[in-house]
Amino acid sequence: MKNVVVAGGTTGMGRVIALYHLRQGARVTVIGSTPARGEQFLADAAALGAGERAGFVRADLRSVAENHRVVAEIEARHEALDGLVLTQLMPFVKRYETVDGFEGVFSLYYVSRFVLSYRLTGLLERGDMPLVVSVGATGITKGAVNWGDPQFAASYGMVKAMVSAGRANDLLGVHYVQNHPDGRTKYLQLRPWYTDSGTNHLPQPHRTVARALGKVFAKSPEESIRGTIALMDDQPAERLILRALDKPVDPSLRTFNPADAQRLYELTKGVLR
Ligand SMILES: NC(=O)c1ccc[n+]([C@@H]2O[C@H](COP(=O)([O-])OP(=O)(O)OC[C@H]3O[C@@H](n4cnc5c(N)ncnc54)[C@H](OP(=O)(O)O)[C@@H]3O)[C@@H](O)[C@H]2O)c1
Repeated sequence: MKNVVVAGGTTGMGRVIALYHLRQGARVTVIGSTPARGEQFLADAAALGAGERAGFVRADLRSVAENHRVVAEIEARHEALDGLVLTQLMPFVKRYETVDGFEGVFSLYYVSRFVLSYRLTGLLERGDMPLVVSVGATGITKGAVNWGDPQFAASYGMVKAMVSAGRANDLLGVHYVQNHPDGRTKYLQLRPWYTDSGTNHLPQPHRTVARALGKVFAKSPEESIRGTIALMDDQPAERLILRALDKPVDPSLRTFNPADAQRLYELTKGVLR
């Protein structure tokens, strides 16, 4: 039986991926911060006749300790992993400082994905065709990691923080593969289509505006993530798989620079110490 974990699997694209794998007969655990969304996911799983194979772990993945607790819960529930899907994100209009003293976007969009990817490698390496799938902003070459002030302590802007964490995620797959040269686990980083997930944490009036735009211009999560699901089932040969809007992305772009990736790995280990 396949085993799949989806961080951010209670809504949006993550939820579609989680339900797909349940329908295929996998054991699936989703992680999210809102209990009602987790309960809805479990009810949907039960309606599919997959209640026994579905799990929900409530956690606030902005906290490093919560990520470590989630790892322990996944290790208790799964003996191996075939898929680890990372979609967790929450926008912060004003600078949010986490319990660890990190800036919120950096913590949720990058550090959480770092901790889950590295710490679940043991389970992944026991999977049949293990794959990490990180849904982000791959292929966008604008901006860079804010090396001088990655926590945006001096001057915060939501877009600047999202761009910096997006570029950090580009480098995460690179350093993950570099640091596991003999591993079997592949790393798929992708940018999806503009998607009407309908469930963001934006405060008003930003939420109403985002939802109205989404209804008009965005694809449904089902439509948006179809190509990603196909890639999970039929994986390319390379270990670092890069896609934007379902098309391959050039791994020699400056956003995947191996030296920058190693620098970020060291920086991350440093702040986590
Ligand atoms: N939608 C788009 O147009 C678009 C475009 C480009 C890239 N992307 C990327 O695609 C990914 C998924 O997007 P989406 O639109 O499907 O997202 P979404 O529907 O907003 O889902 C986000 C998921 O993250 C979870 N989450 C949020 N904060 C959390 C926290 N503190 N702790 C634990 N879980 C948390 C949410 O669950 P709870 O609410 O229960 O916490 C939810 O399951 C994101 O990383 C985004 O950057 C999206």
